[in-house]
Amino acid sequence: MPDPARAICSSAEIQEGGRGVRFEAELKGALRSAFVVRFDGIARAYLNQCAHVPVELDWQPGTFFDNDGLYFVCATHGAMYDPATGACAGGPCRGGGLIPVAVREHDGQIFIDE
Ligand code: FES
Repeated sequence: MPDPARAICSSAEIQEGGRGVRFEAELKGALRSAFVVRFDGIARAYLNQCAHVPVELDWQPGTFFDNDGLYFVCATHGAMYDPATGACAGGPCRGGGLIPVAVREHDGQIFIDE
C-alpha cells in the first residue's frame, strides 16, 4: 500500500494525451517542479524542466502535450519530447531529455514511488 502522503492526484485527473497534473518532487534533497500525464495508458512523470534551458515546459499550467497528444512541447522555444521516454524528439533539446520521476498507480490514485 503506497504512502497516502505521497499521493499526487486521482487516476481520473490524467486522461490519455490530456492535461497533466503538476506536483513537487524531491530530488537530491530539493523540491522540484514535476508533472504527471497519461500516455499509452500509463502514468508517466518527469521533472518540469526543459533540457535546453532549465525552465518549465507548460504553456499554461498543466498543458504539456501538442494538439495531437503525441509529444510534449516546451512553451519557450518549442523543443519536443517523447512522452514515453522523455527523450528529445526535435528542436533545441537535441541529445537531451527530461528527467523521469518514478510514480505508480494504485487503487485509482497516482503516487510518487518510494
Ligand atoms: S527552454 Fe525549452 S526549448 Fe528552449
